[in-house]
Amino acid sequence: MYESPESCAVPSYLLPEGASISSRGELLLHGVPVSQLAREYSTPLFVYDASHIRQRLRAAKGHFSGKVAYAAKAFFCKAMAEIVSEEDVYLDAASMGEIFVALAGGVTPEKIIFHGNNKSTEELRFALSHNVGLVVVDSFDEIERLEAIAEGTIRVGVRITPGIEAHTHEFIRTGQDDSKFGFNVQNGDAEMAIRHMSKSSVLDLVAVHAHIGSQIFSLDSFRQEVEVLSQLLADVDIAEVILGGGLGVPYVRGETAPSIDQWVATLDDYGFKTGLSKGRTLVVEPGRSIVATAGLTLYEIGTIKRIPGVRDYVSVDGGMSDNPRPVLYGSGYEAFMVQRMLDPHDAKYSIAGKHCESGDVIVRDAWLPSDIQGGELLATPVTGAYGFSMSSNYNKVPRPGVVFIDETGYRVVIRRETLQDLIRNDI
Ligand SMILES: Cc1ncc(COP(=O)(O)O)c(C=O)c1O
Repeated sequence: MYESPESCAVPSYLLPEGASISSRGELLLHGVPVSQLAREYSTPLFVYDASHIRQRLRAAKGHFSGKVAYAAKAFFCKAMAEIVSEEDVYLDAASMGEIFVALAGGVTPEKIIFHGNNKSTEELRFALSHNVGLVVVDSFDEIERLEAIAEGTIRVGVRITPGIEAHTHEFIRTGQDDSKFGFNVQNGDAEMAIRHMSKSSVLDLVAVHAHIGSQIFSLDSFRQEVEVLSQLLADVDIAEVILGGGLGVPYVRGETAPSIDQWVATLDDYGFKTGLSKGRTLVVEPGRSIVATAGLTLYEIGTIKRIPGVRDYVSVDGGMSDNPRPVLYGSGYEAFMVQRMLDPHDAKYSIAGKHCESGDVIVRDAWLPSDIQGGELLATPVTGAYGFSMSSNYNKVPRPGVVFIDETGYRVVIRRETLQDLIRNDI
């Protein structure tokens, strides 16, 4: 990672590992000016440092005694599935579509963990016919569905809701009692489901799963999860305990999060201390912490509207269709000029998207040079997770392309949508 000078537009911990700055103040990724990628592939454009992704997966694997499963929902495509396969990690898939893409990218089916609070019978059949390694059962309805379609023994896990209020946004908190996910521990559902599945003649219960939420900064929330599970499972004979994902990442200047090494080491440590991991394998499912900082979005500035005494708006050629997180969760981001990294970013603007919603603002208070012009390139860092994967065609805006770059070069892994793509399903 390069050391960002004090005056730099963005601190280095918000940029991919392969970032550096040229003497002219241009942002480079693995030595390539990102402005070159914007010229070649147009904007908006997602750019991912593929080495950064691999490095994060290796760090998680290297510091953990158990298994690492990448959570596809954070960002997924065939090229990402290839990385998962090459780095030999497991995969958390939450739909038939994610399983399909995983298989297309060469992920070994036995390494797929299938999640979802409402898996349809079609999805369950699809997963079973492709021999996915584990189906994590989420409800009593799903037990019935699985038992009805079973043609042999099915390896299953059980998702429990441990009753933990993790310190994060309520929409991405999942471990508390009032949740649509899993079997609640507090009301006895979890115990009942475990008992039922243990006796089932077709379900082979091998794992217990919990996921307490996402964008969590406090290792204490994870320690609490391990403690609750160790008590719950004290007398349960189970081979694997899946602890979910949820590790947070810094999005804005001044934020700090535990590293992925610290996170898995803490889980290991607590698993050992509480006895949870005795005779069992622990599994983690990181998504955001693998891909978020690896990615950034390049936009071209269009209209600049100055309202003296009120606010200055800078509009870009994307918005909530490529990054819905600010609208969904009020998430904060930074913004910077990729060709002017060493210029003072000392004037305040709001970065607006191009969509027909007043709320389509990507960064409410962004600091940019005072003399920015239409046509210049702006980037928002840390957009690698839950950006492209939540993207839409709102206002019939084609989805951006995605480029992977590493020390060997760069390539388009998802092409930009065309106008024709916007009507390809219309009849
Ligand atoms: C079951 C499960 N595992 C893993 C994840 C990944 O979480 P994160 O991206 O916060 O690491 C999620 C996210 O919603 C999830 O629901």
